[in-house]
Amino acid sequence: MRKILFLFTLVFAMALLAVMLKSPRAEQVEHHGYLVNAVGRTTDCLACHDGTAAKSVSNCIGVNCLMSDSHPVDKPYPPPGKEEGYAPVDQVTATQIKLDEGNITCISCHDLKNPAPQHPAVNNDGSRLCLTCHLK
Ligand code: HEC
Ligand code: HEC
Ligand code: HEC
Repeated sequence: MRKILFLFTLVFAMALLAVMLKSPRAEQVEHHGYLVNAVGRTTDCLACHDGTAAKSVSNCIGVNCLMSDSHPVDKPYPPPGKEEGYAPVDQVTATQIKLDEGNITCISCHDLKNPAPQHPAVNNDGSRLCLTCHLK
């Protein structure tokens, strides 16, 4: 019986380890009383920021994203065919700005590990955050 229990525990521990190794994208951070993945995908953030657990955010995952107060997310960076208006990728990702498989997402503008208000990935004084990507 003891041996079975031991084996069971061992298998469980190994399975847990395998799951943890399979998700290298996890960087847990304290966020308003929750433990949140600071490098989560758009959908991870929107799980709360859809007005259920946290304030809803205007975001734009659709195809036709016109800027009023929402910014396109899950779009390739730089946008194909419009490269000349954008800073090179390695220059952008040399900051705290992160792309998710080449796409702009919530964590491109927000670094939850930055305790500053709104957790900007780059301090946005004088629109610095925006100008890190947008050249014009
Ligand atoms: C488990 C729920 C949860 C998840 C997941 C979550 N948030 Fe939040 N977030 C909150 C709550 C609660 C607040 C407090 C204000 C509110 O209720 O909207 C907040 C506030 C914020 C704020 C406003 C500044 C502040 O901290 O007061 C930003 C920016 C933010 N979250 C970004 C993000 C990003 C980016 C992600 C994904 C990487 C994310 N959040 C994931 C719950 C969550
Ligand atoms: C292009 C950059 C950019 C992207 C992409 C972006 N944000 Fe923001 N976000 C900002 C800036 C700048 C502010 C603070 C100024 C403002 O309120 O407009 C902000 C504010 C917020 C706030 C606080 C809103 C409030 O009313 O207090 C939350 C929450 C938030 N963002 C979550 C998200 C989530 C979740 C995503 C992904 C769906 C996201 N953001 C994508 C730049 C961005
Ligand atoms: C991580 C890089 C990045 C950052 C930071 C960023 N943007 Fe963008 N922005 C993009 C991409 C990519 C698009 C999508 C362009 C497309 O698909 O044509 C976009 C689109 C836009 C658009 C829609 C019109 C257009 O130019 O296509 C506006 C307006 C805009 N951004 C303003 C802002 C503002 C304001 C900020 C700062 C709060 C900001 N951006 C920060 C990458 C960025």
